[in-house]
Amino acid sequence: MNKFQDVQQHLQQHRYHWLVTGAAGFIGSNLVEALLRLGQRVTGLDNFATGHRHNLELVRDAVGQEAWASFDFIEGDIRSQDDCVRACAGTAGAGVDYVLHQAALGSVSRSIDNPVMTNEVNVGGFLNMLVAARDANVKRFVYAASSSTYGDHPDLPKIEDRIGSPLSPYAVTKYVNELYANVFGRTYGMESIGLRYFNVFGPRQDPHGAYAAVIPQWVSALIRNQELRINGDGETSRDFCYIDNVVQANLLSALAGVDAVNQVYNVAVNDRTSLNQLYEMMRGLLRDQFPHLDAHRPQYVDFRRGDVRHSQADISKAAALLGYQPTHRIGEGLQQAMAWYVQHLAPSSDTNAQPNKQ
Ligand SMILES: NC(=O)c1ccc[n+]([C@@H]2O[C@H](COP(=O)([O-])OP(=O)(O)OC[C@H]3O[C@@H](n4cnc5c(N)ncnc54)[C@H](O)[C@@H]3O)[C@@H](O)[C@H]2O)c1
Repeated sequence: MNKFQDVQQHLQQHRYHWLVTGAAGFIGSNLVEALLRLGQRVTGLDNFATGHRHNLELVRDAVGQEAWASFDFIEGDIRSQDDCVRACAGTAGAGVDYVLHQAALGSVSRSIDNPVMTNEVNVGGFLNMLVAARDANVKRFVYAASSSTYGDHPDLPKIEDRIGSPLSPYAVTKYVNELYANVFGRTYGMESIGLRYFNVFGPRQDPHGAYAAVIPQWVSALIRNQELRINGDGETSRDFCYIDNVVQANLLSALAGVDAVNQVYNVAVNDRTSLNQLYEMMRGLLRDQFPHLDAHRPQYVDFRRGDVRHSQADISKAAALLGYQPTHRIGEGLQQAMAWYVQHLAPSSDTNAQPNKQ
């Protein structure tokens, strides 16, 4: 039995109370779903800045009424200390055991457009959550860090202790999270683990809006036969990480031994896929169902400000100290994600974009 199977078995036999911040978002809602499926008690906190109520409704439908009864939701803002305290207090006299802190304003571009707001949420809100979790004596605080922290460091694959200068306000905020978590460990003895996610994708990732991530944005464009833009020459590369790997890393981190705490870990696959390759993989997966894609071609536009050129994770630290073993590489993840997006995004009224039902 591998470490993750161990952890899942343990959770099936022991019921803890979890707080998932950003619960209505992409990663948060997937964490809520996984925890409820394992019989856990979960509180979600979100202000719907970029998350959606329908994500929670999809979780409810997926897990069924009985598991859903173990979920409660607080509509609140991590910029409010009171909301953070309320969320960490738990319910029915039982405090929260584990915090999985996902709430933040993602997107490098958004942070370049509005650095002040990104800082207020990602740094101010993070600090509020740390203080509330410390005061509630939670067992462990696991938080979403980011591969953007590698900044301009040229080495590939990326190793946790070799970082460069940040290339965007977003990257600064995510690095500050790590610094604060580390100081809270030294100063207050708080146990935390930071997970540096690399381009996560999967069901419920928002395809809409100016700051949408590349995979959902492209699926939406491909299905609808719309213009699809590639920034730069398409040779920019990423270590795309399917959501199931991220869920695994979070649960492993919460229950890992103390020798693993107060550290940061890369969470990805140790693969590198260029945007040109990604485009062809996605078009290939959708082509049978959407024949218009035979003629579809991307448009190449300028490089995006603040973007790291190449990214690939060394995952040996997470493997050694957390027992992390990604279950999905990009191909398997894309297959599952495409199937979900076709089911949830395919327009029923646009005849150009009807899936081929043969
Ligand atoms: N998706 C990725 O590829 C990726 C990569 C690296 C790091 N991350 C980090 O992972 C976390 C989750 O990202 P995601 O992709 O699920 O994004 P998301 O936008 O889907 O989820 C973020 C959630 O946080 C909520 N939120 C934002 N501001 C809030 C506030 N002030 N108070 C309460 N809730 C608030 C949003 O409404 C949303 O539901 C973020 O911290 C992000 O920075 C994501």
